[in-house]
Order: sequence, then structure tokens, then C-alpha cells
Amino acid sequence: MPLQLNINRKTVGIDADPDMPLLWVLRDMLGMTGTKFGCGAGLCGACTVIVGGEAVRSCSTTVGSVAGKPIRTIEGLADARTSKLHPVQQAWKDCNVAQCGYCQSGQIMSAVALLEKHPKPSAAQIAEGMEGNLCRCGTYPRMRQAIQMAAGKGKA
Ligand code: FES
Ligand code: FES
Repeated sequence: MPLQLNINRKTVGIDADPDMPLLWVLRDMLGMTGTKFGCGAGLCGACTVIVGGEAVRSCSTTVGSVAGKPIRTIEGLADARTSKLHPVQQAWKDCNVAQCGYCQSGQIMSAVALLEKHPKPSAAQIAEGMEGNLCRCGTYPRMRQAIQMAAGKGKA
């Protein structure tokens, strides 16, 4: 029987082994390539999506374990009707955060989950919320600035 996934507010039936990593389903079966494959071992955060309000590593999360739960990916952040960017995406753009860009969709998903839990995060909360996401280009200071901007605390 197909698994029922709820991705970006749409229900999708998928015929996959429940033990398959969610990342494989997103990228290979659904063509949603905004979520990136980095280490494949839960160590880098490139594959981060939000499941039920929590930032999770989709490379290390089985698709069977998230069936029926609300899954959000980078593709679902902008307003579908107006194409208006999510405030975190807009802040990322305004702060010119990305370098090579490879880690960035995972970083943005972690930042969105962080701000939904802590709308006005302290420096310590930002550090804790983002600590599992690695960036080989070292964009950490600009990410922190963008998070503060999205939280209404920073300046453009
Ligand atoms: S690809 Fe999932 S944590 Fe690195
Ligand atoms: S922007 Fe290059 S890895 Fe983060």
C-alpha cells in the first residue's frame, strides 16, 4: 500500500520501502532537489527538512517514520500564490549569505525551525539551533546576521 506523505501541505502517495531515507524519496522519487545530499550520515545538515516543527536530517530519517506527519522542504517556504519569499529567505538574500550555496537550503530550514520556536532568539539559541549545520565556505557570521534580521532584530 502506498505511503501517504504530507509535503508542503499537499498529500502525496508514494510506493516506497518504509525504510528508505526520506531524502531519497524527496530527491529521486519526487524530483524535489532543493534538499541536498551532503554526508548521508546525519553529520552535515545539508539535507535538513522540517517534520512536525522539528528540523530533521532527511538522510537519516526513514520515510515510513514520517508518513502522515507535516513535512516542509525548501520548495514550500515561499508563498505558493504570490511567490513572495519566506522572511528567512528574504533575509538570506538581503544579507547576501550564500557562497557556493550547497549547504544553504539546509541552513535555511534549520533557521526557520529555530525562529518558529524562538521568534526572538538569543545568540545562544541561534548557536544551538544552527550547530548541526556545517558550511565549508564559512558563511556563519552572515547567517547569524540574517537570522537576526528575520527576527526583526538586525539591520539591513
Ligand atoms: S546529508 Fe544528511 S546530515 Fe549530511
Ligand atoms: S555556502 Fe558553501 S558550503 Fe555553505
